[in-house]
Amino acid sequence: MNACLRAAVRAGIGAGHEMVGIRRGYQGLLEADFHLDSDGQPRMTMRSVSGIVQRGGTMLRTSRCQRFYAEEGLQAAADVLRKHRIDALVPIGGDGTFRGLVDLARFWDGQVIGCPGTIDNDLLGTDYTIGFHTAVATAVDAVDKLRDTAESHERLFLVEVMGRNSGHIALYTALTGGAEIVCIPEATTDVAELSRTICALKEAGKSSILVIVAEGCSAGGAVALHEKLKDVSCPYSSRVVVLGHLQRGGPPAPADRLLASRLGDFAVRSILAGHGGSMAGELAGQLVLTPLAETFTRHRPVAPELVELLDRLAR
Ligand code: F6P
Repeated sequence: MNACLRAAVRAGIGAGHEMVGIRRGYQGLLEADFHLDSDGQPRMTMRSVSGIVQRGGTMLRTSRCQRFYAEEGLQAAADVLRKHRIDALVPIGGDGTFRGLVDLARFWDGQVIGCPGTIDNDLLGTDYTIGFHTAVATAVDAVDKLRDTAESHERLFLVEVMGRNSGHIALYTALTGGAEIVCIPEATTDVAELSRTICALKEAGKSSILVIVAEGCSAGGAVALHEKLKDVSCPYSSRVVVLGHLQRGGPPAPADRLLASRLGDFAVRSILAGHGGSMAGELAGQLVLTPLAETFTRHRPVAPELVELLDRLAR
């Protein structure tokens, strides 16, 4: 998110506007918690965003804020925005962020262009969300390392990746990590069938088997799947690795830095052109705006072509 923030700040200042950094997401907005420049003023400068393009996370911090979803909180947030004469917002976040923006519009008529910042890649209106490529790169690096010990010990590994309700990280990790099987929320995991597939792969000569498990899959994640495989008498013992929040840090992948820079800059230029109520995205390389409510009301489906490709490659 830092690359996106950096681009938005520099686009706004470069166009002659004052940019304010709201710390800690909606919780910070409710508390008027603004980034202070070297003079102690609530504003961002060109130097405020120096040296962050290579850093994971966000220099402004973030939060999950339940109060923001109550009418009282939305009204309070609108009051803060008006009091501090903030004309437009460039929020960076996932479906929860955008859901809040649609609700805020009932209390505040400022311009909003959101940027898709979530590793889940589950928003519509953009081919990729900021953070997805980095999360997949982290997961694939782990899978590459696990493959060494799986080969050495001829073992079965269940590797759990993030993706609150979506299997995009799992599917991309399975395909690019050379895994044999993927379990995603978009398709029911039949544990008995999975055990039979494992046996068939072993009989076909596979010495190691890697199963990438999305945390939201119907089996309940990798630890639960490990137990369920035992319950169906799968003859191969498995080891479980849960990657968890490792996928949410580290130096961003160049692809994410480029996407974030393009979208942050585009969001500000779109506001200056009079647009609002939308999300900035990149579709087939083109910068586009999509009405906020169309980005999160349903999750992006996984590509059947990729699911079928994995099946053909994993034999
Ligand atoms: O939505 C992004 C995400 O990383 C999900 O993939 C994950 O399930 C969730 O956030 C974890 O939330 P928290 O960081 O609050 O535990």
